[in-house]
Amino acid sequence: MAQPEQNLMDKIVSLCKRRGFIFPGSEIYGGLAGTWDYGPAGALLKKNIKDAWWRAVVETRDDMVGVDAAILMNPKAWEASGHVEAFTDPLVECKTCHARFRADNETDIQAHGAGHEKKKEHVEWTEPRKFNMLVEARLGVIEDEKATVYLRGEITNGVQVNFKNVVNSTRVRIPFGIAQMGKAFRNEITPGNFTFRSREFEQMETQFYVRPDEQEAARWFEYWKNERMEWYVRLGIKRENLRFKDHAPGDRAHYARAATDIEYKSPFGWAEFMGVHHRGDWDLKRHAEFSGADMSYRDPETGETYIPWDIETSAGIDRSLLFFLIDAYAEEGERTVLKLHPRLAPYKAAVFPLLANKPELVKLARSIYEDLRKRFMVAWDDRGNIGKRYYGQDEIGTPYCITVDFDSITETGHPPSVTVRDRDTAKQERVDVRELSAYFSERLSAA
Ligand code: GAP
Repeated sequence: MAQPEQNLMDKIVSLCKRRGFIFPGSEIYGGLAGTWDYGPAGALLKKNIKDAWWRAVVETRDDMVGVDAAILMNPKAWEASGHVEAFTDPLVECKTCHARFRADNETDIQAHGAGHEKKKEHVEWTEPRKFNMLVEARLGVIEDEKATVYLRGEITNGVQVNFKNVVNSTRVRIPFGIAQMGKAFRNEITPGNFTFRSREFEQMETQFYVRPDEQEAARWFEYWKNERMEWYVRLGIKRENLRFKDHAPGDRAHYARAATDIEYKSPFGWAEFMGVHHRGDWDLKRHAEFSGADMSYRDPETGETYIPWDIETSAGIDRSLLFFLIDAYAEEGERTVLKLHPRLAPYKAAVFPLLANKPELVKLARSIYEDLRKRFMVAWDDRGNIGKRYYGQDEIGTPYCITVDFDSITETGHPPSVTVRDRDTAKQERVDVRELSAYFSERLSAA
């Protein structure tokens, strides 16, 4: 990474820690590589991303339903889906110190070799071999009878095995989709770039089932590529920082007939944001074979029976959150500001009494705060000087700050008013207290 980009990543990591977005996992024990904990601001941001996604793909569509399947599954499901055999990354090992790297990670491999050479040590690498990324767990209460199960490597399988349950319990008709979000686990050889590549992370996915027909599949593939790209743009990612990248046949996952990534121009280069995959009938067919269950679909109008094809969209939630943060980050003069879309911002507004020791100010500010928090996530801050409070809210991306000052309580002949400061312009305007609710409804409800 070039120096300014490295600096930017360092600044993001430091802001995340300082302001309660993301902490290293189990930090007081020295951490655990590839795990991260979300703090108060980060948990809110993550929830807002998930809510916006669920609203876009499930609640506002007639052709999508949502499920929430178990993380632990019968291990046969992972044999059927091909993960036990093929969910692998190529791994090379340094013969001198046994450090392991992904074989395609040329930067780290070169840096490692250079380190040995500096110490006048000869470096030799093993041939690349396949390394399975599924994380195993032991389940059961009797030591000798514990079963080896897998923590899901992708959240997809829980949807696929429930295809018939969903068809039989709802009114969906092909084409339709099933959405899900939740944790996935991968024994990544080299976790890194902050949360970008973790060993525990969350995904949000849609499996969209279509008639087994190339044209139909191609149409939906294009549709979902664009739909997903536009969703990120609507939520504030700059269009010029996004691009599609098709996977060459040799680079596709074992289940994919076609695959396109949406990439983000990150400080560490163009990086995969999410993927759109044409999974064909891979999953349903294999689950039918391995379980003996009938996974076919019968068209209620034509009576035609077939195994549908699946057009998948799969995004990392942690990765999305990281890219939303990077894209929103700005330094303007003395202040650092996260220009997050109001819908994603952890807090929509913050309320400040100008002075904490003036009961009249506190009383009015408190009543405004109580009123607004009925509908929006609102922060309260009465510590330190007002400038510091603004900076603090800018750094967590709060779109509006409301200050109750002496003019709010002493204006004679005028209705009480407060100062509302806009995060992006830092401009302030006075708003009648009685208008506040409408003022924010107009600006935030549509978000
Ligand atoms: N069901 C398809 C699937 O899992 P994938 O390309 O392996 O496809 C989809 O993963 C998305 O999940 C990626 O685009 C990325 O956003 C996220 N993801 C994958 N591995 C990750 C990791 N180790 N850490 C964080 N996010 C990851």
